[in-house]
Amino acid sequence: MGFPENFLWGGATAANQCEGGYDADGRGLANVDVVPWGSDRFPIITGELEHLAFDDKHFYPAKEAIDMYHHYKEDIALFAEMGFKTYRLSIGWTRIFPNGDENEPNEAGLAFYEDLFKECHKYGIEPLVTITHFDCPIHLIKKYGGWKNRKLLGFYENLVRVLFTRFKDLVKYWLTFNEINMILHAPFMGAGLVFEEGEDHELAKYTAAHHELVASALATKIGHEINPENKIGCMMAAGVYYPYSCRPGDNWAAYEEMREESYLIDVQARGEYPRHFLKKLERLGIELPILDGDLEILKAHTVDFISFSYYSTRVAVGKDNDEVEVTSGNIFDSVKNPYLEASEWGWQIDPLGFRTTINMLYDRYQKPLFVVENGLGAVDVPDEAGYVVDDYRIDYLAKHIAAMRDAIELDGVEMWGYTTWGCIDLVSAGTGEMKKRYGFIYVDRDNAGVGTLKRTPKKSFDWYKQVIATNGEIL
Ligand code: BG6
Repeated sequence: MGFPENFLWGGATAANQCEGGYDADGRGLANVDVVPWGSDRFPIITGELEHLAFDDKHFYPAKEAIDMYHHYKEDIALFAEMGFKTYRLSIGWTRIFPNGDENEPNEAGLAFYEDLFKECHKYGIEPLVTITHFDCPIHLIKKYGGWKNRKLLGFYENLVRVLFTRFKDLVKYWLTFNEINMILHAPFMGAGLVFEEGEDHELAKYTAAHHELVASALATKIGHEINPENKIGCMMAAGVYYPYSCRPGDNWAAYEEMREESYLIDVQARGEYPRHFLKKLERLGIELPILDGDLEILKAHTVDFISFSYYSTRVAVGKDNDEVEVTSGNIFDSVKNPYLEASEWGWQIDPLGFRTTINMLYDRYQKPLFVVENGLGAVDVPDEAGYVVDDYRIDYLAKHIAAMRDAIELDGVEMWGYTTWGCIDLVSAGTGEMKKRYGFIYVDRDNAGVGTLKRTPKKSFDWYKQVIATNGEIL
């Protein structure tokens, strides 16, 4: 038994975190380009601080990133050497539509991805494409206010139509929005939102989310029309919530948090807003801008599969509980779990929580799952030859893969594949650092952008190669 025969092993990246080439071949400026490294990053990604252009005071890691724009052949060859069956990457929206609202796409941007996909197929690697990974043209933010404006839906529709048509024979697996629930926590990255003074944040976020949900359903419709073979998925930043204690108040808090994080995926997978969410809107006095036909579109075009990222479980505490210690997590903090160890960035490590999360998602949606992000962000110290002995990463991944195997083998979950996050070192989304590395391949570049960009396989490179070669038998 173990992993299914056609299991798609691979790795994942996002355009803005690896490509660089921010102004190459007609590319326009995107929200993710102007997000700097340093203490201003967080208020900017949460939409609290408006920052829509480069200045001299900050360093902008996405401008060059690891320059995959010019290294993709070399990088894909390394992925192939590890035996990747799939490579998850995202499209830079502004390579295709530099401003976002043009009628005609930029041919150079399309040609770049076409060549990249062909390069993947040369090695039998199936591309898995995230249409937008924290990516929104700056022009659409300045002129329309980002996704809180319904017009974005039409611009996104143009984008997906172009992509599905042009790459009909090259791409079968698509994700509409990366970690769609991140709108709630990092709304500038998730939806291009910058809050105005006195603006109702909840209203703006839920409105933008509604537009993305309808856009996602439309993309699913269009994708299936253009090629019925297309498999179109949603993508969630997942991780179950544990109650801090067995006090009923803590358990209820965990239950509520889980429902709130899941509501967008509920819509994408089941085609309806959950009733608890509609009740909550009523209490908040928020009316969603639902137009005629929206609910029908959501209902008719649900996703084919559920993809998700998993790094940690989270802990919730009820209002009636004592003061608790907090630790960092993916974008937002969590109550600290005293039973778990954490990464150097405070993210709690919980392989059994991975199995629980997988089961929770499968029970909830009854659709095939795809793990599209999992991994350990750590400080790697290369030796003189540039080699990194990353046993800590191997340990993390081996335990998580074993937990996933249990979910498949013992719990019967249908799982299509697994792509580790940042299979090659890249810029961290949360912190903008290069120092926080996830890769099997070391890239010589530091937080300030200094380095030769040389690629060197780490110890985990050979380890993962063996995992794939044995279809997860040897971990
Ligand atoms: C996910 C994102 O939230 O987590 C990635 O989809 C991100 O873009 C990854 O890089 C890891 O987070 P970080 O902050 O360590 O880069």
